[in-house]
Amino acid sequence: MKATAQAHSNIALTKYWGKRDKKWMLPNNGSTSMTLDKFYTQTTVEFDEKYGTDEIILNGEKMAADSKEGKEIREHLDLIREMAGISTKTKVSSNNNFPTAAGLASSASGLAALSMAGAKAAGLNLDKKELSILSRRGSGSASRSIEGGFVQWLRGEDSEGKDSFAEQILKPEAWSEFRMIVNIVGTQQKKWKSRAGMAQTVATCPYYPMWKETAQNDSEQMTEFIKQKDFTKVGELAEFNALKMHATMITTQPMILYWQPTTVEIMHNIALWREEGLESYFTMDAGPQVKVMCLAKDESELIKRLHEIKGIQKIEVCKPGPAAKIIEEHLF
Ligand code: PMV
Repeated sequence: MKATAQAHSNIALTKYWGKRDKKWMLPNNGSTSMTLDKFYTQTTVEFDEKYGTDEIILNGEKMAADSKEGKEIREHLDLIREMAGISTKTKVSSNNNFPTAAGLASSASGLAALSMAGAKAAGLNLDKKELSILSRRGSGSASRSIEGGFVQWLRGEDSEGKDSFAEQILKPEAWSEFRMIVNIVGTQQKKWKSRAGMAQTVATCPYYPMWKETAQNDSEQMTEFIKQKDFTKVGELAEFNALKMHATMITTQPMILYWQPTTVEIMHNIALWREEGLESYFTMDAGPQVKVMCLAKDESELIKRLHEIKGIQKIEVCKPGPAAKIIEEHLF
């Protein structure tokens, strides 16, 4: 009753922002993403009668039983227990190899790894579609971290989300020249976590209906552009879609402004360099980090220029990464 999984984080190319159903974690629109080779979570789950209560350790630190994150993880474990028809308590240990909750989609890799390890440890034999659905119920973006390469999460129509899962568009090796340069601008825990932030946007942003009307189509188009491996179209749409999402965040009451001065400085530079012929595009999520998309041929020139921007604390280059998997080495 013990298993360990490794799931990689993903960055959305067209975003998920807003739910149509909270309980089933169903999105208003489909989304697309690239799984990252460099950033991942490893999670070990053990179900055993020796545990009197669920014990959760994140990056070596025990989580307080009454913390919000602790509660969310316990609820997810309850879901797995319900599916497996067991009531056994667990020990969970999870490590991220990147900063938690700073806009690097730690919830995506974290909940995907928890779902995969938890399901296996509970004796459930789930296929990729079922694992994506289970992960979705922990965190929407986690549904996309079960698959590798380029991925689409289908909006679906079913009221209980049976058709809302993620599937692969392209294998990682099919577009291995694609680069996602992650520029770390700040690693402080953010004020608005995505779950609360998107609920507040849906409730108060006057422009949210515009997002709802257009985001589904953006994702369908993006899926086609990815299949065609049309970098210019992918980059242009990813940038536009990210700006549209941030436009709804900024016009939420109270405002949700994730950008730092360095975030904006990078955005200006990318646009300027593009005019000069160096092709790259930016995207941002629920944090100040800027992810810059380019092709392998422009990677070194871009990194050289990005290194000259003082506010950037760290630059990490990611390629399309692998699907989530069960690994043999346990964390405890
Ligand atoms: O699934 P969550 O709660 O981590 O929300 C993800 C929200 C964004 O990162 C902003 C967009 C996305 O599709 O990943």
